[in-house]
Amino acid sequence: MTVNELTLKIENLSYFYENGDGINGFNFELNKGDFLAVIGISGSGKTTLINTILGILKKKTGNISIGDHIDISKISFSPQNQAIDWYLNVFDNIYMGALFSNVSNPKEITNNVIELVGLKGKEASDPTDLSGGQLQRVQLARQLVSESDILFLDEPTNGLDVIISEQLLTHLKSLATKGVTCIVSSHDLDVLEKFCNKVLLIEEGKQVFYGSLDDFIASYNEENEFIIEIYNPIEEKVKSLLQNKYNILEWFPLVVSIENEKQISEILKVLIDHDIPIQSLRKDKKTLKEIILDDHRRKENNV
Ligand SMILES: Nc1ncnc2c1ncn2[C@@H]1O[C@H](COP(=O)(O)OP(=O)(O)OP(=O)(O)O)[C@@H](O)[C@H]1O
Ligand SMILES: [Mg+2]
Repeated sequence: MTVNELTLKIENLSYFYENGDGINGFNFELNKGDFLAVIGISGSGKTTLINTILGILKKKTGNISIGDHIDISKISFSPQNQAIDWYLNVFDNIYMGALFSNVSNPKEITNNVIELVGLKGKEASDPTDLSGGQLQRVQLARQLVSESDILFLDEPTNGLDVIISEQLLTHLKSLATKGVTCIVSSHDLDVLEKFCNKVLLIEEGKQVFYGSLDDFIASYNEENEFIIEIYNPIEEKVKSLLQNKYNILEWFPLVVSIENEKQISEILKVLIDHDIPIQSLRKDKKTLKEIILDDHRRKENNV
């Protein structure tokens, strides 16, 4: 595999629904073997972006190019809403996926993927007799049998239990290490963080971050941010005292961005002087999930 071989290039991509919602001005590039996490709160535009890239929605502006080595028939998509052939049993639903994509050993691949997504024993079942999570797995399996170059999965872990979610993402990661480019939207941030190497954060239809997972985590983990865990929320009187002098980012737990080391001991002294017991003090090192939660909380509280 050639390192950094371009797979997908998105330039100034936009799509708008009639009511004006949509996505605006997306720019990013993916290479062979990239595992992209598309994240953002519900309604931010993840599905719209994926559907626009795939041409399900007709783009209003922009360019989409795929790498020269990509065979267009080797692009797979698992949509957020289930697409199942209701008249076929579980095995045949998945087997159809393998036949469509012309893989060399469709039966073997189908059986392997059935095992992978935990549907062993359900091969002869009708889709109508399955639970929501099992249906979701049938749909995913139809894509996983296809031996694609690019896989788009919109909320693949929805309705899956933690074990199957981890297995699925582990499998995707192993495909990525073999050169498959995976684009996965999900609210499952803890799980995604373990597997993706790139992050695309969407807010209100706009691309607010695109880059490596490491850069994303680093850019939101300021060196000078401290978390002071306290047992009870701080009363207003003490809050205004602190707020006037220090850059307080959050109140419970107390998160502060300091200008010098001295400030942290000053803040601790204020707390102690007001009989506020301190549980712990640590430098802030946030996970992907905490970054998104904090960001949202700060916007809500206007701090
Ligand atoms: N068919 C449609 N017509 C009009 N507006 C739509 C349509 N589909 C989605 N939208 C709007 O576009 C915005 C983005 O929706 P989208 O489905 O892309 O969000 P999402 O990030 O995938 O959300 P979720 O996490 O809930 O799946 C939302 O404001 C939504 O209400
Ligand atoms: Mg969606």
